[in-house]
Amino acid sequence: MTNFISAFNNLVDQSVTIKGWAYNVRSSGSIAFLQIRDGSGFVQVVVSKKSVDEASWKAASEATIESSFSITGKVTKHPKQEGVYELQASSVILIQKVQDYPIGKKEHGPDFLLDNRHLWLRAPSQWAIQRVRNAVIYATYDWMRDNGFIKIDAPILTPTSCEDTTELFEIDYFGERKAYLTQSGQLYLEAAMASVGRCFDFGPVFRAEKSKTRRHLIEFWMMDAEAAFVGHDENLKIQEELVSFIVKRVLETCTEELKILERDVEPLKKVVPPFYRLTHAEAVKKLRGMGSDIGEMDDLGADDETVLTKEYDKPIFIEKYPAAVKAFYMKRDPADPTRVLNADLLAPEGYGEVIGGSEREDDYEALLARLKEHNLSEQAFSWYLDLRKYGSVPHSGFGYGLERLVAWICGLHHVRETIPFPRLLNRLEP
Ligand code: 4AD
Ligand code: MG
Repeated sequence: MTNFISAFNNLVDQSVTIKGWAYNVRSSGSIAFLQIRDGSGFVQVVVSKKSVDEASWKAASEATIESSFSITGKVTKHPKQEGVYELQASSVILIQKVQDYPIGKKEHGPDFLLDNRHLWLRAPSQWAIQRVRNAVIYATYDWMRDNGFIKIDAPILTPTSCEDTTELFEIDYFGERKAYLTQSGQLYLEAAMASVGRCFDFGPVFRAEKSKTRRHLIEFWMMDAEAAFVGHDENLKIQEELVSFIVKRVLETCTEELKILERDVEPLKKVVPPFYRLTHAEAVKKLRGMGSDIGEMDDLGADDETVLTKEYDKPIFIEKYPAAVKAFYMKRDPADPTRVLNADLLAPEGYGEVIGGSEREDDYEALLARLKEHNLSEQAFSWYLDLRKYGSVPHSGFGYGLERLVAWICGLHHVRETIPFPRLLNRLEP
């Protein structure tokens, strides 16, 4: 039987067998130390020449980085560190001996690490990030299930755009027509909403954006949610409950991961409802007061978001953007038809937009007019227009970018480390 390092707190003084990789090795005279990683955690294995047979001693004393092992021994408490365990080996079996693992202990540049992403994923920091990502995914599913949202799988190959048509990935569909990789499952969720009431999707989306910023990926994971009979204000409440739940779950279950990432958890502990709410007009006024040259009806740029969010200790909703800078499906604000009933959720500490959402235009004629204004084909969107013909109801939804959420929660500078194999403007490998 194989034991997991993560269960060592319940196995003190017992004999166990672990299987894993050596991420660090050192030996002196008659004692060898193997730092072993088994996926569930990390442990120092102490191998004393006099306590093991000759083959075990050879395997341990000649161990190299990333060599794989099966090791039997007794679990002990670390003599000095509380909550840390060691393994006193009685047998060390080498599974594969590695020569010259390319990633060493010295500092490597980001390009080298990204070229070796298939190996870099094993580093403790990357282990920690992927585990936080996993916790965010499971927390999302749990919250959605507990709040009546049904998982609906939206297609990846689509006949039209959902967001900006300039960011579409085009595919030749059997030489007969064009297809596009999805930018968001939202429009399909709006259809499913009239069946199941509340739904969400979770999958890869694609943006052919020539942006080379620390917030942009070409392929990323989006969670879209859609709810019937929910207006703008309730839409924001759903988002702040969900995000607070996710952050709380990570704080509860990823203590070791956040420690490895040296994440200051104090700002995360403040992430509880209600979040701050600012209208776009108020945000612009504030930004201009801080020296920005943003125009009254301009979209917020990444720099604007960064300076703004550094002013607040919790996430901020920026509501009611000018209609001209937002997508065709957003409902106009009845109090000011130049604006829409939308909100972007900006994460604090300089992170910026993590969610985009809005109440949807539910009136047939208004939606048709929007399509025309955006030069979108009435025929291509006829099925979407149908939804406003047959039992149209007020409804709202939003979409979060998984990598941006994870970058913020982990305190990372760039989103590229949050996805196992990032696709960037200049990178498709490995
Ligand atoms: O704001 P966006 O474009 O909104 C939508 O696509 C809506 N259809 C969602 C909805 O209402 N169901 O994208 C949503 C989120 C952004 O807030 C951001 O977190 C993330 O997706 N995002 C990106 N993440 C990484 N790289 C990119 N290029 C991204 N573009 C958007
Ligand atoms: Mg957006």
